[in-house]
Amino acid sequence: MTSINKQTQCATAGRIAPLGGHTRTASVPVYQASTILFDSVAQLNAAHASYAQGSESYTYGRKGTPTSLALCEALAQIEGGFAAFLAPSGLAAIGVALLSQLSAGDHLLMVDSAYSPTRTLCDGLLKRMGVSTTYYDPLIGAAIEDLVLPNTRVIFMESPGSLTFEVQDVPAICRVAQTRSIKTMIDNTWATGLFFNAFAHGVDIVIQAVTKYLGGHSDVMMGAVICNQACHRSVRTAAHDLGQFAGSGDVALVLRGIRTLSVRLREHEKNALAIAQWFEQQPQVLRVLHPALASHPQHALWQRDFTGSSGLFSVEFQPHYAESAINHMVEQYAHFGIGYSWGGFESLALPVHQSHLQHIRSHAPPKNCLVRYQIGLEHVDDLITDLAQGLSLLEKMP
Ligand SMILES: Cc1ncc(COP(=O)(O)O)c(C=O)c1O
Repeated sequence: MTSINKQTQCATAGRIAPLGGHTRTASVPVYQASTILFDSVAQLNAAHASYAQGSESYTYGRKGTPTSLALCEALAQIEGGFAAFLAPSGLAAIGVALLSQLSAGDHLLMVDSAYSPTRTLCDGLLKRMGVSTTYYDPLIGAAIEDLVLPNTRVIFMESPGSLTFEVQDVPAICRVAQTRSIKTMIDNTWATGLFFNAFAHGVDIVIQAVTKYLGGHSDVMMGAVICNQACHRSVRTAAHDLGQFAGSGDVALVLRGIRTLSVRLREHEKNALAIAQWFEQQPQVLRVLHPALASHPQHALWQRDFTGSSGLFSVEFQPHYAESAINHMVEQYAHFGIGYSWGGFESLALPVHQSHLQHIRSHAPPKNCLVRYQIGLEHVDDLITDLAQGLSLLEKMP
């Protein structure tokens, strides 16, 4: 098949024929189903046998409906992978990916700048299951070789880190992994397959917190594990054995979300870059942690490997501002909600204080107060007016 642009994929991917062969619709019908009915026992057995052999035939709601498989097909296409599996949250998808490759006695290399619940999973449940974890510096690149143990099975990446925005040398890490038969995974939620083609850079398994840009409207929780062909069997087994699935109503919301993904992402990118550049000029700001800015320490890596930037970045404020002053500034914003999530249509601000960064051991995290901004789809002038008022308030605070 001739390759098509990501923008076209967003509009067309996963528009597969529905179950019964009735009139086709542009949007995939919502099969609100647990039970799949068969005309005969022979038909049921045939569907089960084909499922057992690895094809995604319809046998039972949890194992896939035309609605969920449409989304799986779309996600696999957009990320550039072989197959995709759904989970009820991004964190659940991270769990599926890790459990698909790790067993008792194995060793995991986890990036130190990872989303903190990913660390909790490693330090708690995985440890209890007999999996040991070493945290590595996100800037390690090919030197990750020095940390590989005889029992290292997985290297997990998140690039850029979603609080501190270090960009990893993914191809260099994947090259090391490939020579040692270690599986690589990446949390690609920040860039999505539109801005970072993880599989083309050598990654085996991609995780998406679909909750963020793919859903895009802050009304759904979902995750996905997308894998290459070599990992298909192991990821499928883990996802199905753990009973991972997403309900049809949520799946329909995400199918709707991805139709506008490319348009939304470009707008998030444009607004976020304008605001990041504006922040760089403000005296209250020490530095802006946004990989698409020339001032970012790994800007060259970002330029080499990414095709765009999304709407999430952090601002580090000058050392003399107290946490309470930063909190107060954020509370005064008119257009920025205070909240943990990101990737939706609305702008958000999240103060990130030293206590949030304490666990980072392998490299030097920012030393001063940060605010992580999710830049939404509001008009950029209104957002800058709001942020400027916030800075003048900050100036006046003791
Ligand atoms: C980088 C990253 N990965 C994964 C997740 C988890 O996604 P979810 O909230 O859907 O479990 C988040 C959530 O904030 C995130 O920021």
